[in-house]
Amino acid sequence: MATTEVRISPEDVKQAASQVHERIPEPSVVVIFGASGDLTKRKLLPALFHLEQTGLLPEHFRIVGVARRDLGQGFADDMREGILSFGGVEKSAAKLDEFVGKIGYHAMNFDDDQGYVALKQLLEQYDRDYGTRGNRLFYLATAPDYFADIVHRLGAHGMAKPEVGTVRVIIEKPFGHDLESARELNDDVDTVFSENQIFRIDHYLGKETVQNVLVFRFANGIFEPIWNRNFVDHVQITAAESIGIEGRGPFYEKAGALRDVVQNHMMELLSFVTMEPPASFAAEAVRREKIKLWSSIKPINIFDCVRGQYGPGIVDDQMVKGYREEDRVDPKSQTETYAAIRLEIDNWRWAGVPFYLRAGKRLASRVTEITIQFKQPPMLLFGARVPGGCDIQPNIITMRIQPDEGISLRFGAKVPGPQMSVCPVIMDFSYAQSFGASSANGYERLLLDAMLGDATLFAHRDGVETTWALYTPVLDAWAKKFPQTFPNYAAGTWGPECGEELIGRDGHTWQGVPEAPKP
Ligand code: BG6
Repeated sequence: MATTEVRISPEDVKQAASQVHERIPEPSVVVIFGASGDLTKRKLLPALFHLEQTGLLPEHFRIVGVARRDLGQGFADDMREGILSFGGVEKSAAKLDEFVGKIGYHAMNFDDDQGYVALKQLLEQYDRDYGTRGNRLFYLATAPDYFADIVHRLGAHGMAKPEVGTVRVIIEKPFGHDLESARELNDDVDTVFSENQIFRIDHYLGKETVQNVLVFRFANGIFEPIWNRNFVDHVQITAAESIGIEGRGPFYEKAGALRDVVQNHMMELLSFVTMEPPASFAAEAVRREKIKLWSSIKPINIFDCVRGQYGPGIVDDQMVKGYREEDRVDPKSQTETYAAIRLEIDNWRWAGVPFYLRAGKRLASRVTEITIQFKQPPMLLFGARVPGGCDIQPNIITMRIQPDEGISLRFGAKVPGPQMSVCPVIMDFSYAQSFGASSANGYERLLLDAMLGDATLFAHRDGVETTWALYTPVLDAWAKKFPQTFPNYAAGTWGPECGEELIGRDGHTWQGVPEAPKP
């Protein structure tokens, strides 16, 4: 195995990061609705604290958690716990006490006008006491049913477009549950906020490795010339998780794999791999290319979409429940925990190249990766199989989004010896080796960008509607005809047989799936 090593000192990395983020946001308050949920504790607060540690937050900065329960000071203590447990932070970390001291809490029902009156007063008090100057970032991390109501009430209470300060709103996924509901939500939010105030978040876009897909393609001269139908045979995108639904039964029952990760995270990955180079790395230019790409996808054939649901099985040597036995899940549930799709992009660059997407819970391991398989050379000079050698295998570029982040290239090399035997070898770039481990969870970059008003890595309304338009017919067809075979894969495996058949129809197999032992 050949390995390329690019060694960069931690100082180089720090210096490069400081050059990129030379702008510090204006003084502001981050107001998190739905703050008692897991997301705040596990992701948002650790991300904000990392920003504080790296000196990227303004000096005049506050956080207010908003939720129904009366948590008082308990909220800040709980957030401290979250930062320690999920942020990889030591108890003794510098700035921790000071940061926790900036966390406030406001208890209210999201449909109670009095609560909004009191919230407005609290924020105005912060402006006077802490110099936050009317700048607010509202983060909607509630159940999606509340999004429209909260937005309307913020508007009605004069908090959306105040005379002083800049207000922005981050809206968590899922953004709608089909095309119609996404349009309705977009219309609702648009009546209160302007598009440049709205930040529809997809945390995949905050991942370094996802952004690096664009860097790999457009900051290097050697890949783009072969990044098209003349050289690429097919592309696979896998988002496999070994975890189950983690106590989110009511949410997942309504969502399923297609809505939960395919329509959003996987379509974002697909757009980065396939879009044309944007005119610049500015929000409008990047969003325009993504929308153009999604609009070029051929309507998805229902026969090119398959679904699965896990039954009991063994994950990491532990016996785990099937989906239907999970807490607050219907024992006859028809919700899919696995989806695989074959699609085609009908444009100049990609016509005729199949793309395969698959996502699932309780699969054999956690891996998110993109593989680009190239066509074989026009003539196999060394034969398909040479005595003593291996099969000559096509070149593959694998982008490992997580874990074990990196990029590798598989190519054929001569096996030492008197014969012209060829074996595949791997040239590998590893983030950890080159840059050291990163604690970033995706939210850091996105929270910072939202505070700076940079929407490049956020979804635009047209983009959200375009991807929903692709999948809504599939969801409608699925809702009409329930599969009789669920559960159709055991937890801890690589998913149902129909997923293998989908890709097998074209003579391919999923990369990374261990082959069945040969007799
Ligand atoms: C979330 C989904 O958006 O993404 C979860 O709701 C999923 O079901 C998660 O587990 C995956 O994110 P990551 O960053 O762990 O790949």
